[in-house]
Amino acid sequence: MSELEGSVLRAIHDQQQIADSGEYALSQSVDHLTLVGIIKSLAASELITVEDIDHFRYALSDEATSYLAAGSPEAQVFKVVPEEGLPLSQLKVLLPGDIGDVGFKQAMQQKWLATDKSGGEPKIIRKVDCITDKTQQLLKDVAEGKEIDKADAEALKKRKLIRNETWKTYKLGKGAKFALERVKPATDLTAEMIQKGTWRTQEFKEYNFNALGAIPSGGHLHPLLKVRTQFRKIFTQMGFEEMPTNNYVESSFWNFDALFQPQQHPARDAHDTFFLTKPATTTTGVPEEYLQRVKDVHQNGGYGSIGYGYSWKLAESQKNLLRTHTTAVSSRMLYRLAQDGFKPAKYFSIDRVFRNEAIDRTHLAEFHQVEGVICDRGLTLGDLIGVLHQFFSRLGLPKLRFKPAYNPYTEPSMEIFSYSEELKKYMEVGNSGMFRPEMLRPMGMPEDVNVIAWGLSLERPTMILYGIDNIRDLFGHKVSLSMVKRNPLCRLGL
Ligand code: PHE
Repeated sequence: MSELEGSVLRAIHDQQQIADSGEYALSQSVDHLTLVGIIKSLAASELITVEDIDHFRYALSDEATSYLAAGSPEAQVFKVVPEEGLPLSQLKVLLPGDIGDVGFKQAMQQKWLATDKSGGEPKIIRKVDCITDKTQQLLKDVAEGKEIDKADAEALKKRKLIRNETWKTYKLGKGAKFALERVKPATDLTAEMIQKGTWRTQEFKEYNFNALGAIPSGGHLHPLLKVRTQFRKIFTQMGFEEMPTNNYVESSFWNFDALFQPQQHPARDAHDTFFLTKPATTTTGVPEEYLQRVKDVHQNGGYGSIGYGYSWKLAESQKNLLRTHTTAVSSRMLYRLAQDGFKPAKYFSIDRVFRNEAIDRTHLAEFHQVEGVICDRGLTLGDLIGVLHQFFSRLGLPKLRFKPAYNPYTEPSMEIFSYSEELKKYMEVGNSGMFRPEMLRPMGMPEDVNVIAWGLSLERPTMILYGIDNIRDLFGHKVSLSMVKRNPLCRLGL
């Protein structure tokens, strides 16, 4: 609180009012404008009341000020005209400039002077002996703040000798919240106010409902989750149903054996797969007859296949592992579908898988797979190629090429390559194929049913979309939380 603010409040307290802020400013030797600033702020806090006082006066122009001592132009002209008269041309010499011209005109109007043209050259002659300089007197009155006649004032205004001047001062009184000291309103209710009971009288600052709130620090979606949502949208728009993927731990049976992956396949090595030690095995879940059919197809073949011709071990199929691909989920789903009486179906899954890999810029020991599966009678490789074109163009990757590949569970198998407009080359984006009869028939699938499927990682498209070139910046313990907070919205495709 400024000193001046304090003395204003004290003055109002002592005299119930300040009758005129103009006079008060004078008495305190402060600029009225400075005082007005304080008045406005005190009034805004309802400490004081304010009433306008309108002021009016005439003010002299610079020209008029010079006539206060020297007299009005008409009087000055009258003075220079001697009794015998003055040649008109002499006036300009004695009173050059406006004074001569203006004064002569005024004096003629007042009938103080006249012109005499009888002697050839025009002469100014006096018509009266003496004059009173009323204009000078009026200007003196104005200068002293005396009232003057309205008609006189109008005449002076016309001659631009005076002008209207208006200004405001204020009458100040006690406001609704008058106090000798301004109390800063509190912004928060404190425990202390409640304990002491001061909240009853405490003044609080009003809420500013237009203020922007603090940005909440929680609830940020990781890029992988955003891209997953986009994949879900694409699949559901294409009529696919999501498979339950909520088991990271899987038996070797569903992860490998059901998929006709031989037990001595290198992928089933501990170098590639994480096996569980506790519990190391499982015995539940697989019906005996199905188990037998799987064993049989591995050992002896069937359904037009010669099998692998090795001795299939139950114990090997019972080993628990962290699922190495979401195709383990698909194999469970397809078995269910065959048991429930086959109906055409379209399934998808997006979830985490685990591989015992050497970690580098593009590989982690856990990542996410996106998998699509379609089961129907009479599906062909052409259907697979067609649906891959549909799916990948929705991702914004319309240019595809395929390369023959090998998976134990699909025949034919195709690696999927997509043209990158940025890198100007084809890049591998996924793997696909038609599930083998050696996998489908033991499940109980009708002979004419074919299943086409494809899989890709969630990380690869996410890294491309978000411009992340090291997978460790996207996933795992080295991820920066600010990347998670600040990553932009995800927009997949066209
Ligand atoms: N399971 C395969 C992988 O892990 C992907 C795939 C899914 C291939 C479905 C063919 C069919 O790479």
